[in-house]
Amino acid sequence: MEDLLRVEALCREPILDRVSFTMNSGEMVAIMGPSGSGKSTLLYQVAGMDQPTSGRVYLAGQEITGISEEKRAEIRLHRMGFVFQQMNMMGKLNILDNILLPAAEANRVLHNRSKLELRKEAESLMQKLSVLELKERSITEVSGGQLQRACICRSMINRPEILLADEPTGALNKSAAAEVMDTFVKLNQEGTTILLVTHDSKVAGRCGRILYLLDGRICGELLLQRPGAGTQKRREETVNQWLEMMGW
Ligand SMILES: Nc1ncnc2c1ncn2[C@@H]1O[C@H](COP(=O)(O)OP(=O)(O)OP(=O)(O)O)[C@@H](O)[C@H]1O
Ligand SMILES: [Mg+2]
Repeated sequence: MEDLLRVEALCREPILDRVSFTMNSGEMVAIMGPSGSGKSTLLYQVAGMDQPTSGRVYLAGQEITGISEEKRAEIRLHRMGFVFQQMNMMGKLNILDNILLPAAEANRVLHNRSKLELRKEAESLMQKLSVLELKERSITEVSGGQLQRACICRSMINRPEILLADEPTGALNKSAAAEVMDTFVKLNQEGTTILLVTHDSKVAGRCGRILYLLDGRICGELLLQRPGAGTQKRREETVNQWLEMMGW
């Protein structure tokens, strides 16, 4: 099977140093590492938001480094979904319209889905992520966990091949973080490929694999059971023991 994501000897001076890894379709992988180790930079490179100094990134076999910014933006819009710690929703729009925004943007390019179809798709995502009843609310009238789950709906609206998330639970309390992770695990079990950055061993413990970044290099990897299998407590303990070994 072809790798969905292939990162080859990626350098971004002076932050990333020959980072290589691959992800199969359907995997959920966490990137961990100390503050300043280059986690966000790596994610932005994978997303093509920035040009590497050297090295390559392939999405489903297609090289996405060394192509124009315009083409990279198109790939980001149509083939990737993004979730950030700072949720970046538009204050003037209600929750549903925020979720529809990337679809409207994509439709200007593609014109392939009607407004009604898009609305139905957004509502079915919202139903699945338990935020449908909030669709008419403004972004200030929902909790942090609800808002992040709405952001995940927004990231899924253009049916991305991969979801990229930078500290998606970083701004949330424990129970909201657990709900957001339940959502990621559910989407992953349904086939969504997810690459996320986190500081939290509980969050990482719910992924299938963890990469450890130190000073811009991948210097460790931990394989876990597939997401959803085993008890969360046991998974978290495994991660904590490994992190200790990595010098966390
Ligand atoms: N645009 C930039 N120009 C120059 N240096 C940068 C830039 N962005 C980040 N850096 C530096 O690159 C290093 C890695 O930053 P990055 O944000 O990728 O780290 P991180 O692992 O995500 O950290 P954190 O856990 O705190 O989010 C840091 O030393 C940072 O100061
Ligand atoms: Mg970061």
